[in-house]
Amino acid sequence: MAKKNPSWGGRFTKKPSLAAQKFSSSVETDKVLYAQDIAGSIAYAEALTNAKVLSKNEFKKIKSGLNKIKKKIDSGKFKWSSELEDVHMNIESALEKEIGVTAKKLHTGRSRNDQVVTDFKLFLLFQNEEIEKLLKKLMLSLVKKAEEELHTLMPGFTHLQNAQPVSLAHYLMSWHEMIKRDLLRLENGKEQLKISPLGSGALSGNRFNIDRNKLAKKLGFTSVTKNSIDAVSDRDFALEQVFNLSILSIHFSRICEELIIWSSSQFNYVQLPEELCTGSSIMPQKKNPDMAELVRGGSAKTLGNLMTLLSLMKNQPLAYNRDNQEDKKPVFDTVEFSIEALTIMNEMIDGVSFNRDQMLADVYDDFLTATDLAEYLVIKGVPFREAHEITGQAVKYAEDKDILLFEMSLKEFKKISSKISSDVFDYIDPIDSVQSKTSIGGTALKQIKKEISQAKNFLKK
Ligand code: ARG
Repeated sequence: MAKKNPSWGGRFTKKPSLAAQKFSSSVETDKVLYAQDIAGSIAYAEALTNAKVLSKNEFKKIKSGLNKIKKKIDSGKFKWSSELEDVHMNIESALEKEIGVTAKKLHTGRSRNDQVVTDFKLFLLFQNEEIEKLLKKLMLSLVKKAEEELHTLMPGFTHLQNAQPVSLAHYLMSWHEMIKRDLLRLENGKEQLKISPLGSGALSGNRFNIDRNKLAKKLGFTSVTKNSIDAVSDRDFALEQVFNLSILSIHFSRICEELIIWSSSQFNYVQLPEELCTGSSIMPQKKNPDMAELVRGGSAKTLGNLMTLLSLMKNQPLAYNRDNQEDKKPVFDTVEFSIEALTIMNEMIDGVSFNRDQMLADVYDDFLTATDLAEYLVIKGVPFREAHEITGQAVKYAEDKDILLFEMSLKEFKKISSKISSDVFDYIDPIDSVQSKTSIGGTALKQIKKEISQAKNFLKK
């Protein structure tokens, strides 16, 4: 008789075909869960001991056996077998080799269905700590850069056309805001991750009087799932994770898009750190923004992974289906990319330098304060739509004469509107424009300083 699967082969006379084995084995992907799997098994064995299913001695054996296996895996000496399907069965079978038949008691009342969700949630909680640490670091770097660039004026854009002058610090703090939302989203996601499914069994629950709450706390969860059918088939937490990281990755993609544009000779606003650029094998003068492009390009796969997971879930009947084995790759891929991209983004923001002169020159080389002229007229009692029309005429006049708004004389202004007097020049200088936007969240330096100090306080927590 062919060798049967030791975990479920009882009613079989044949083992899976080679193709089926190869097709169904997930260990190459899910072996990264080993630390969580072992922690979960030790805690579960303890719960079985408290429920008098295992003796204290048996628990000791299981615990020390699992710890030995963990050390072996940590040091890279463990031999993974694809024949044993997944991380769970590899470890269980290694435990039997380590401690003998007692190992066969560990799985009492537990199913890989509740086991795998437990491991998965614990793993994401663990990874998110790293992601959050990197996110906070990036936020702090942006705040520091913003402090350095408070007095740097630059054109703000709409439609990528010059729009109104802003402080570069304000621009940098807008990136900071995007990333802060990413951090908050990940923190909110923890609420679902911290609900333990362990003790749900295959789908209907557990008969062995295990204390699920105690077991959950032991593993760092804060509460337990309330329905065993839902618990083993729910992957909302994974969907939220890839959704949250998709937003994070498109934020990075947008920031990189701007840095790429700004580093072109046409813009010449930034010098990207040389360590993050590459040369061309044919054009010796080139300094290409490859890392920024790879962050922008790589973010595409996080969107694909989100679609994969959504599609995976949409037609599944309750409860567990093997389809769910396909849930890990897209999530792990997104998590891995996010950590790598975050590391690059940290180096990028730390190392970028801004060409203040070029930004300033551009602010003064266009009609960026036209809106300020219109608003000046409003202050002088002209209804805004009329003021807009008059300002349009002023811009047309200046354009025809090939001069800028603040190069017009008072006499010329007066010809366009009698409401204009000499104080107009305090409105149409870019620095005055920036300083006038005192609304909460506006670009006036006083406001940005407030925003910066709030951000610093937030990051201290
Ligand atoms: N490797 C499986 C997964 O990732 C573990 C659960 C298997 N359960 C089962 N009933 N075949 O989903």
